[in-house]
Amino acid sequence: MKKPAAGMAPLPPSPTKSKAGTGSGSPRLLHSVSGEWSVVVRRNVKSSLLLLLVLSTFFVVSVLRSSRSFAPPPPAAASEAQALTPQGETVPGDDGRGDDQEQISDAAGNNVAAERERSSSADISLPSTNSSTEAAAAAAPSHAGSVDMEEKCDMSMGKWVREPKGAVYTHMCATLAEYKNCQKHGKDPGHLYWRWQPDGCDLPRFSPERFLAAVRGKRLAFIGDSLARNQMDSLLCLLSQAETPMEVYADGHDKFRTWRFPEHDFTLMVMWTEFFVHAEPVVGAEGEPTPSFDIHLDRLSANWTRRLPELDYAVISGGNWFFRPNYLWEGGRRVGCVKCSEANLSDVGVPYAVRREARAAVEGIARCRGCRSGLVAFLRTYSPDHFEHGSWFNGGYCNRTRPLEEAELRPDSAAWELRRVQLEEVRRARKTAAAASGGGRRFELLDVTKAMMMRADGHPGAHIDPRWQRAISDCLHWCMPGPVDMWNELLLRRITEISPPAAAR
Ligand SMILES: *[C@@H]1O[C@H](CO)[C@@H](O)[C@H](O)[C@H]1NC(C)=O
Ligand SMILES: *[C@@H]1O[C@H](CO)[C@@H](O)[C@H](O)[C@H]1NC(C)=O
Ligand SMILES: *[C@@H]1O[C@H](CO)[C@@H](O)[C@H](O)[C@H]1NC(C)=O
Ligand SMILES: *[C@@H]1O[C@H](CO)[C@@H](O)[C@H](O)[C@H]1NC(C)=O
Repeated sequence: MKKPAAGMAPLPPSPTKSKAGTGSGSPRLLHSVSGEWSVVVRRNVKSSLLLLLVLSTFFVVSVLRSSRSFAPPPPAAASEAQALTPQGETVPGDDGRGDDQEQISDAAGNNVAAERERSSSADISLPSTNSSTEAAAAAAPSHAGSVDMEEKCDMSMGKWVREPKGAVYTHMCATLAEYKNCQKHGKDPGHLYWRWQPDGCDLPRFSPERFLAAVRGKRLAFIGDSLARNQMDSLLCLLSQAETPMEVYADGHDKFRTWRFPEHDFTLMVMWTEFFVHAEPVVGAEGEPTPSFDIHLDRLSANWTRRLPELDYAVISGGNWFFRPNYLWEGGRRVGCVKCSEANLSDVGVPYAVRREARAAVEGIARCRGCRSGLVAFLRTYSPDHFEHGSWFNGGYCNRTRPLEEAELRPDSAAWELRRVQLEEVRRARKTAAAASGGGRRFELLDVTKAMMMRADGHPGAHIDPRWQRAISDCLHWCMPGPVDMWNELLLRRITEISPPAAAR
């Protein structure tokens, strides 16, 4: 049982594959093959609604709890209060419907005015709507090899090797909410004893002191969905080893939070946005929101752009929310859709949609007028899930106990394709930035896709809050401590290369 892959489907990064052999082998957040989507949805509407009901109940409870216990917010108490935050999107595919409609409210009670004021300050021009996939493909190297570009070593290719020392922090980390704590819910600690070994060099173990020295006086935000938050939570635990952070803002839904490390004058934020661009839930015939979105490719989401001018480092990530029927808009017209089957609309495919949102985001950053000239944007590449034998809603699970071997990965998986698209868009942005001269904004990559494709053992799986346990596994997010900490090792390494700590005294 503990032996690798015994009796399991041979191609783990491809949860759909194992099901019926129909899958393209792509890790899909929302499972299922595109054509079957609507069928799947119909079949699961009942159970989804039930699930939503459960989620929203937790949600209400947690809001009540957090608003009560937030009044005096010492960090530990604050995170305790958030422990119940149901974050609908914990269960991939639930779509966060439970709280999507919520406005950014203020659990702490006293930061709202300041937040509002800041939020009006940004004025960000729209991304170009002119370019097509073809143009982009022609403008960029067409195969996804390694990333060279000024980086001293390609960290994206390598393997996981045993690391007896284990993680830098333990699951007792004070900022880690109970419901995100795999160990407390029975996860085997085996997944902790691995480290990423890049092919041509070493990736140093995370040093909280070095990180905090490098970011002294800076503001860093993770921008994206629940996986962006996953990285923020990881960094928070890593840095807590050197300095206890203070939570200074929380929206109460675990979507927008701000932490301060006063001794190092460092601010860490997370900002929720599913697509970088403006999107609204599609309203169904009965008047209630459906899992689909109308996605406006020519308008950036204010969820993150309004705070962009404050930032020194922006770590953006995305892609997961495209694996469902979504509609793309441009210039006020519906121009296509993904995972859809509409007679008069063409399915442009998830990679195209991901390319366009990535482009919108990097162009938005490149053109941001009020932003700092030294702003560094990192794009964290696509993070795959590992559902096997189904998906989140029909008994899919992930109970492997060790990383996959290289040979078990599928180079044709959807994750790999999305990574390629994201790399191309970052390269494109660099060219544009170089051509534009001045500006000086940097575009960097946290290329984690391959490493994470191997970590079928690193998800919470069934080890989630028992209140969720309706035979649901979380094979999308990453346990903390766990492989997600490597994302922050990459981040640290790159930040210190860009701005050597000497400058930080
Ligand atoms: C994973 O779960 C399946 C189904 O319950 C079981 O057959 C298999 O033995 C489990 N594998 C491990 C490594 O626990
Ligand atoms: C838009 O694309 C067309 C053809 O691809 C090109 O001729 C034109 O200059 C582009 N316009 C802008 C504003 O980039
Ligand atoms: C922006 O944030 C709100 C508030 O949490 C959320 O409901 C919405 O889905 C987000 N939208 C986009 C496009 O980022
Ligand atoms: C496309 O079809 C939908 C219904 O399937 C309809 O509501 C919409 O108006 C049609 N759009 C065009 C451009 O024909």
